[in-house]
Amino acid sequence: MKNKIFTLLTLGLFIVSCSSPKSEPKKKAGWKPEMDQPSELASIMRELHDEAKQRKSTLEKGELAEANSQLIFQMITAKPTEPHMVGPAFEPHAQAFIASYGELNTATDVATQIDAHNNLVKSCVACHMNFCQGPIPRIEKLYVQ
Ligand code: HEC
Repeated sequence: MKNKIFTLLTLGLFIVSCSSPKSEPKKKAGWKPEMDQPSELASIMRELHDEAKQRKSTLEKGELAEANSQLIFQMITAKPTEPHMVGPAFEPHAQAFIASYGELNTATDVATQIDAHNNLVKSCVACHMNFCQGPIPRIEKLYVQ
């Protein structure tokens, strides 16, 4: 019985952290596990998200952005919040993402880098469709129109 309650609670928290990151996490009353610390994978994701946001604004100003994050290589081995957040299809998605990321640096003009950036955002979304759908609306805002 105790276990069942625990599972339900973790499931609930998983839904909060993976589906709507900004949805008032402080309002939950009562028992609260140590979930405030983001997992290794979640921290990498936050950084990549910030980096992509910055790149978007640089590109929108008509300037080329630098793309030299080393975090992308840590994605494959980083610990997720819950083991089921990654699975057999995770690594191929991560590899596709890393390849897309490399394309950012082969661009020598802004229009080409915008295409590369948008392709990269597509590969964020592709992985998220399988593993973590919550942030997708936020990720889609990263497209440069
Ligand atoms: C290979 C799969 C994969 C790729 C590629 C990927 N993500 Fe994620 N992302 C995940 C998983 C799995 C989680 C859940 C991590 C966790 O909670 O431990 C996540 C979590 C997130 C989160 C929520 C982090 C938090 O605060 O809890 C954001 C935002 C995010 N990703 C944005 C992005 C962006 C932007 C990109 C592309 C630049 C991207 N992701 C690429 C799998 C991926």
